[in-house]
Amino acid sequence: MLVKGTTRVCGVMADPVAHSLSPVLHNYMAEQMGIDFIYVPFRVDVRRVEEVLKGAYEMNLLGMNATVPHKQAILPYLKEIDRGAADIGAVNTLVRMEGGYKGYNTDLPGIKRALADAGVTQFAGREAVVVGAGGAARAVVYLLAREGMSRIWLLNRTLARAEEMAGHVNGIFGEGLVVPLRTDCWRQIPAGKYLVIQATSVGMYPCVEEAPVEDPAFYRLIDVAMDIIYTPAKTKFMKYAMEAGAEAYNGLRMLLYQGVEAFELWTGQTVPAEVSEGAYCLMER
Ligand code: ATR
Repeated sequence: MLVKGTTRVCGVMADPVAHSLSPVLHNYMAEQMGIDFIYVPFRVDVRRVEEVLKGAYEMNLLGMNATVPHKQAILPYLKEIDRGAADIGAVNTLVRMEGGYKGYNTDLPGIKRALADAGVTQFAGREAVVVGAGGAARAVVYLLAREGMSRIWLLNRTLARAEEMAGHVNGIFGEGLVVPLRTDCWRQIPAGKYLVIQATSVGMYPCVEEAPVEDPAFYRLIDVAMDIIYTPAKTKFMKYAMEAGAEAYNGLRMLLYQGVEAFELWTGQTVPAEVSEGAYCLMER
């Protein structure tokens, strides 16, 4: 795409940034949709985010994406914060407004759209299992709670972190909704078939031979399995789930849709399905 005097500029701030798939995703969508827009990688030291945001605003940048650890670090420097992002204490998308940037967390709608592609559209009254209690798990648990799940079993290697997250989310949505358990106590989950989301870093390249639970019996609890990891494309967790007869999906669609949602916030345009599918194929390579 030809960059002109009128071209709107967005970017991603991360450190390191070289591995980011976001420039490919956003520039592809802009090109396909004929939007005068460019998306640039910025390697930003997390200790300098205040100056970076001031500079970005003064240089008229339309918006930015932020990745770990910038997602939390930028919070004090935003003009406004969307409700969901404020509740989970993490912002991944900045949108220019009068006097500064408004922060959103498009991981939330991104997870919802990835689940819809996996056939999960009914949340109310259903139960789910989430493995992990880091930043990624927090967005997953919050989204499931907000969509009306009746119980979320939260497994984590370190019980204290699961308890802390359960306390936070239950404080917003109601006591008893999120039940924290140490991962090896998973047998306390009543027999049944659950949506299970793997939100730890276990099994991510290069440690591809690891799964958060090794006992095959655990995987018989799964109806639909989703992993937040997308490298490798099929994790050990997904393989175990498939061997137990479950459907299993990796995290690439979550990554895709958090980007699509950000792009829609910046441009005010809906990304057509054929464009997001084209972007998905590009990212899959
Ligand atoms: P992120 O923000 O990407 O989620 P994080 O905050 O470091 O990253 O969280 C990583 C998650 O993966 C945590 O749930 C962590 O478990 P602990 O809270 O017990 O640390 C989990 N995790 C990382 N390595 C793990 C391992 N080898 N076994 C089990 N869980 C692991």
